[in-house]
Amino acid sequence: MPLLLDPHYPEQFDRVIKCFLRGHPVALPTETVYGLAAPISNIEAISRVFSMKGRPHFNPLVVHVPTRSKAKDYVLEFPEWAEKLAKDFWPGPLSLLLPKTDRVPDLVTAASSHVVLRCPSHPVFRNLLSRMNEAVVAPSANRYMGISPVSSRDVIKELGPFGLEAVVDGGVCQYGVESTIVSYERGQGLIILRPGAVTREALEASLGQRVSIASLQSSSPAVPGTAARHYSPSKPMCYLKGREDSVKLPSIEERRYWALLKVFPKDQPWVDSLGFEKVFYLSERASDVEAASNLFRVLRNLDEKEFHGIICCETNDSGLGLAINDRLSRASSKI
Ligand code: TXA
Ligand code: MG
Repeated sequence: MPLLLDPHYPEQFDRVIKCFLRGHPVALPTETVYGLAAPISNIEAISRVFSMKGRPHFNPLVVHVPTRSKAKDYVLEFPEWAEKLAKDFWPGPLSLLLPKTDRVPDLVTAASSHVVLRCPSHPVFRNLLSRMNEAVVAPSANRYMGISPVSSRDVIKELGPFGLEAVVDGGVCQYGVESTIVSYERGQGLIILRPGAVTREALEASLGQRVSIASLQSSSPAVPGTAARHYSPSKPMCYLKGREDSVKLPSIEERRYWALLKVFPKDQPWVDSLGFEKVFYLSERASDVEAASNLFRVLRNLDEKEFHGIICCETNDSGLGLAINDRLSRASSKI
């Protein structure tokens, strides 16, 4: 059973650092989801990050830095677009893909020449960063392809059986979906590689230009972790984009054993008369912020209940709806 550390006691951070020195990662809260952290130069601890998650080495790790100026130690250039976004969104849930320096080990980027940098705002993660004189890698603290953890309890369930030594408790994560990952291509402008807690609209307002979204269907995704199947519950899960997907539904007799998950009550009203008895909403009052923060907790709860499967419905792509649809559709690609 992993140790549960209380961040109100400063000496608990010494314990985190001692774990690192022995080559072990530690789970910590961020404002998005819990991360499995290891110092960027500690190859032994980083190797354990991969093995504990069951994550293939071709899938690189996000690098966390305390400030914009520290970020610059790890990249060859920090162009104007990155300056603007970092000024507007850091510390916070936005990650930037930039060309890396030699200070980023190849193990971290899966030998890519580019690194994803993020400056988290969570006080507990920032407290750790202030005690380290290097960056910290942290993928979400779940098993590979599993549901991202938004509480220390989730982390213990996910990684306790796989040798996690300690988790710092930070309560429930504020956003509940991961950071937005962006890159910039000359001629194309800013591209969202992974939709997340910073919305497309907010990015467009910051840069004063249109922002595009990397194709969800891409067969060789620029962000390896955005493979079609991800965030998956152990039960079958089915994603309905519209009426044409009704062929995917379980039989009428079977439906009472399935959970229907809607983001907002008004989404896809045609589903309301299909005979599902157990209906769950991510936000009854149609708040995308509330829906995102409930997403992984509700998925995990439904997975733990007796249902035979989960039917979920696409919502409007505006605001956090884009990230929510992205996670629901990937969680669902099993059937
Ligand atoms: O909010 C977040 O970003 C959380 C918290 C813990 O900080 N972290 C997180 O990490 O979501 P992870 O590993 O679960 O997801 C990071 C995604 C993966 O899909 C990975 O493939 C991609 O970012 N990624 C990381 N480094 C990359 C790189 N150098 N090039 C392309 N994709 C990269
Ligand atoms: Mg993840």
